[in-house]
Amino acid sequence: MKIQIINGPNLNLLGTREPGIYGSNTMETYLETLRARYPDMEIDYYQSNVEGELINKLQEVGFSCDGIVLNAGAYTHTSIALQDCIRSLKAPVIEVHISNVHKREEFRHHSFISCACLGVICGFGMDSYRLAVEAIKMKNEE
Ligand code: DQA
Repeated sequence: MKIQIINGPNLNLLGTREPGIYGSNTMETYLETLRARYPDMEIDYYQSNVEGELINKLQEVGFSCDGIVLNAGAYTHTSIALQDCIRSLKAPVIEVHISNVHKREEFRHHSFISCACLGVICGFGMDSYRLAVEAIKMKNEE
């Protein structure tokens, strides 16, 4: 199985960015443990702070991989372009958030991408990514 994890803006700063909310683990360290847990899966990772680059990556992988784990960061709450893109893909997309966005500011409660995604996982820290991988695995075994 081939899974693509995509992180949006400011998620390159995981480890140092607001550790009280996002924890102190870097994405690189987390990816090592994730890949070790799923040795049979190919787990690719991409991060960009630029909306159009996220769309380019989604279009590039969205017809060939088995599933996409997308943390669109703040673009979650603003981007119709990402919603349109997700709708156009063949691969299922799972929306992920490290924090529980519903416990936070009101502007984080609305997502422009949830309606185009297979499902949403939020609030489990970095483990939200693993739960999304599990969800894709489960779907694939159905
Ligand atoms: C986030 C939540 C978003 O509201 C925020 O803009 C982020 C990270 C999360 O993973 O909890 O950048 O997607």
